[in-house]
Amino acid sequence: MPEPSVDLNADSILDPADWSAFCTEAHLALDVALNFMQERPGEAVWTELPDEVKNFTEPLPYEGQPLSTVVDEIKHRILPYTLGNTHSRFWGWVHGTGTASGIVSQMMVAAINANMGGRDHAPMYIEAQVIEWMRHLFALPPGSSGIICSGTSSATLMAINVARVHAAGVEVRSEGNSNTELVAYTSSESHVSVSKALEILGIGSAALRSVPTHPDFSMDCSVLVAMIAEDLASGLKPFLVVSTLGTVNTGAFDDIATIATVCQDLGIWHHVDGAFGALGVLSEKIKPRLAAISQADSIAFDFHKWMHVGYAAGCLLVRDGELHRQTFESSPAYLQSETQGVAAGSPWPSEYGIELSRGFTALGVWVQLKEMGVQRLGRAIYRNCLQAQWLGEAVELDHTLELMAPVSLNIVCFRYVADHLSVGALNSLNKRIVVELQVRGIAVPSATVLRGHSVIRVCITNHRTRRSDLEALHQAVGGIALELLKEMP
Ligand SMILES: Cc1ncc(COP(=O)(O)O)c(C=O)c1O
Repeated sequence: MPEPSVDLNADSILDPADWSAFCTEAHLALDVALNFMQERPGEAVWTELPDEVKNFTEPLPYEGQPLSTVVDEIKHRILPYTLGNTHSRFWGWVHGTGTASGIVSQMMVAAINANMGGRDHAPMYIEAQVIEWMRHLFALPPGSSGIICSGTSSATLMAINVARVHAAGVEVRSEGNSNTELVAYTSSESHVSVSKALEILGIGSAALRSVPTHPDFSMDCSVLVAMIAEDLASGLKPFLVVSTLGTVNTGAFDDIATIATVCQDLGIWHHVDGAFGALGVLSEKIKPRLAAISQADSIAFDFHKWMHVGYAAGCLLVRDGELHRQTFESSPAYLQSETQGVAAGSPWPSEYGIELSRGFTALGVWVQLKEMGVQRLGRAIYRNCLQAQWLGEAVELDHTLELMAPVSLNIVCFRYVADHLSVGALNSLNKRIVVELQVRGIAVPSATVLRGHSVIRVCITNHRTRRSDLEALHQAVGGIALELLKEMP
């Protein structure tokens, strides 16, 4: 193919040829996004994906097309088939719901297109402000550090890396883990991201002790103490306890005050996984339950869950900011910071984490906090807890249902029960109920297993949920169960 002639002095090849026409198209696209968010709760929560949506055979587009055509395709091919977490009846796993202002902040992020690895530009100070606000919220001392990242999994990975340096010295960065004999502890209800982090850091998940839980699914601290003593006696080096504020299955809170004392006495790092529960501090009603969080060595949590910032937005806070920096800093010649010019503005976030190039995730958090304010965000969180309590009570009043865990925060785990069914049959029935609720587009709870029993798990991190949504769920569970029971042998 002959090479088209290239005008070396022409305007951008990729900018719109006609900005004014493009603006009109872009405004229409913004309307599509806003309408989607506003109208989604009136539709099915989730719709089974037709083949054309899953079709990977479309050829790679060599020729471009107008933005309006592409937006049209988004409208028909993607928007009707989203996960459903912007809908009022989505309660699966732990998903944030998004906000209308989040659409605007994501748009601004794209316009600014900041690279947040470092250097001296206004977005860096927005991130620093957000970290400072978080330090204040969790009452960590001055000198604590923090970094915004993609989520609690990556925040926990970074935190455990700092804990490793705390235990084995900064030489572990060059020399690796051999002969360190490190062992860590977390409850049997903790999130899989903890063991994954140990695998990635080469410590290995076999070095993670699984501490049993009390009937309320919080860590049994007396067993923790005994396990640590046993490992010390065997010459191993206990270096880390990961506690959870809001376990993924049931929302249980570990006793972080006791765990903090155990860790302080033995010089062990205490990391708190507060993926969703930690932002309970935004609510004056929940905050007292989190008081001991200020004693943690590090805290991981998400803005994209209970604060509804657009994906993906998590955060790591570290009490010892200097150790945090020592764990990740490296300054090759091409990344030297200066006292003046674009390369000023030390320290750079790249010295506190894994990534160099990073997005301007902080803007979404900053906009959300500025526009909503802590009190309004806290009210939405507390309302979810009250809704969970309401559903828990409704379950307890219904003799066909059984509450499978105390409602300690925003999660309700329950199952349908029928006397004549075996444990196995009850497990399959309850798993089927979850799937039927989803495929019929009624609601999206998720399924999990508690002490061998399959349960229907309703995790309300959803500011759009109304009590009527939960009533609809309650009614649908009963109806579907009766239908399924008829089909069962
Ligand atoms: C308690 C807990 N920890 C960690 C995670 C992982 O968070 P992320 O998905 O942001 O990596 C989750 C996710 O639901 C969680 O509930």
